[in-house]
Amino acid sequence: MHIEIAKDYHALSVFTGKYIADSIRNQPNLVLGLPTGRTPIGVYHYLVKQVRQGSLSFKQVKTFNLDEYLGLSPEHPSSFASFMREHLFRHIDIDPENTHIPAGIITDAGLVCRQYEAKIAKAGGIDIQLLGLGQNGHIGFNEPGEAFESLTHVTELTLETRQINSSGFGSAEKVPRYAITMGLKTIMQARRILLMAVGEQKAEAVVQAIEGPVTAEVPASVLQLHPNCLWVLDVAAARLLSGQTLQRHRAAMI
Ligand code: GLP
Repeated sequence: MHIEIAKDYHALSVFTGKYIADSIRNQPNLVLGLPTGRTPIGVYHYLVKQVRQGSLSFKQVKTFNLDEYLGLSPEHPSSFASFMREHLFRHIDIDPENTHIPAGIITDAGLVCRQYEAKIAKAGGIDIQLLGLGQNGHIGFNEPGEAFESLTHVTELTLETRQINSSGFGSAEKVPRYAITMGLKTIMQARRILLMAVGEQKAEAVVQAIEGPVTAEVPASVLQLHPNCLWVLDVAAARLLSGQTLQRHRAAMI
């Protein structure tokens, strides 16, 4: 595990954006796992800028998103498919055929989940999985209690998560109760993982995930077992980490 601490959101976004852009330049057919949420918006903005300047191309890149709300079509304004189009895909030269997001409107959930896993496998597996972090330690939509062995599956969202994610819906009750998400095992199979966390409200989840026991109660704690995981935190999200942790993981300020 490696930790980088950014002085602010801009520095975090530029560092992470550059990390992804350089990885694509080194390996133009990179397979990327992507999150939604407020945290990655600055990274997507950075990547769009690089493409517009002509210094980066997504022509051969394949992407797999972590999750989608069950019951929302890709056209729904609060779907993660809309989010991705809005913040990244429509601004870059990626082939839409190479972008994958779990379908929100499904009849046979088991089949859809197996097919998503098969598509990831067919692409050769995920090279870099970018992650945000839920305030309760969730990654993707793997809520506390999720099995470490889980693959892509349908999950029930906690009330807390629905409240936090309610802005595009009006109220927590209007946020879909269920979502389809890559499982913790799907995430752990990525060759490299980069988790970003920003703000004071993430500090507790960060310290539990990094310093606490590896437990299903804090899904992100499973990342302690990953051989190539980088945490990129802003100062506020890192504020509860001990000096010993920062030293052990050679935390650097960016
Ligand atoms: C959402 C997503 C996660 C995301 C997290 C944090 O519910 N399913 O993939 O990382 O919550 O979101 P934010 O970046 O807005 O804090």
